[in-house]
Amino acid sequence: MDPKFNCLWACSRPMGQYRGIYPGRFIERLNEIIPLEGLLILHQFGGTTKQDGFNHTVDINPGVSPTYLTDARELGVIPDNTYDIILADPPYDSQNVNYSEKLYGCKQVKPYSFMKEGVRVLKHGGYYCILHQLVYKKPDGCERVGVIAITTGPNMRIRVLNIFKKLPKTDASASQQTGEHSAGEKSENANSPAEVVGDGQ
Ligand SMILES: C[S@@+](CC[C@H](N)C(=O)[O-])C[C@H]1O[C@@H](n2cnc3c(N)ncnc32)[C@H](O)[C@@H]1O
Repeated sequence: MDPKFNCLWACSRPMGQYRGIYPGRFIERLNEIIPLEGLLILHQFGGTTKQDGFNHTVDINPGVSPTYLTDARELGVIPDNTYDIILADPPYDSQNVNYSEKLYGCKQVKPYSFMKEGVRVLKHGGYYCILHQLVYKKPDGCERVGVIAITTGPNMRIRVLNIFKKLPKTDASASQQTGEHSAGEKSENANSPAEVVGDGQ
C-alpha cells in the first residue's frame, strides 16, 4: 500500500458560492500524487470547475456551462478510452437525503450509477478518482490504488477520495484475482451501500 495514496489530507473549506465545490487546494494536492500536467481530465459532475484544453466538464445544469451538457451517467457523446483521468464529484445522495434535488434541482444520483460510463471513457492505465462520502468498491476492470480521507475543518463531514486505475486491456481478468469484490459483482450491497448521513456537499 503506497502511503501517498492512503493517507489523510487536511484541506481548507471549499470557497465559493456554488455548493459542493472541491475542497481548498484539492486539485493541488491531487497534482502532488498524480502529476496532472499534460493529462486530459474529465470532471464528471464538473460544476464550476475551470475548463481549458486539458480540463473538460460534464454537468446536467446548463447554468455552469459545462463542456458536455449531459447526464454524467450517459456519456454516449464521448468515445471509449478518451481521458487520462476521470474525476467524479457527484452529489452525495443517500437513501435518506436527496442532495441532487435539494442543492441542484436534479434527479437523484445513486452511488455507483455513474461509474460504468466513467470507466468506459477512461484510457487503460488512467486513474478514476471518485470524491464522495463512501469508500467505493472497485469498478470492473480497475484496481484500487488508494483511499484518501479528506477533512475540511471542524463540523464538516469527512470526504473520501477513492482512486482506481483502469487495467490494461489484457489484464481485465486480473481484477477478479485480487480477492477484492468489484462493484459489478452480484452482491446485496453493490448498489445500496451503507447509509450515509450528512449535511451534504
Ligand atoms: C458536488 S457538485 C460538483 C461541484 C464541482 N466539484 C465544483 O468544484 O464546482 C455536483 C454537480 O453535479 C451536477 N449533477 C447533478 N446530477 C447530475 C447528473 N445526473 N449528471 C451530470 N451532472 C449532475 C450538479 O449540477 C452539480 O454541479
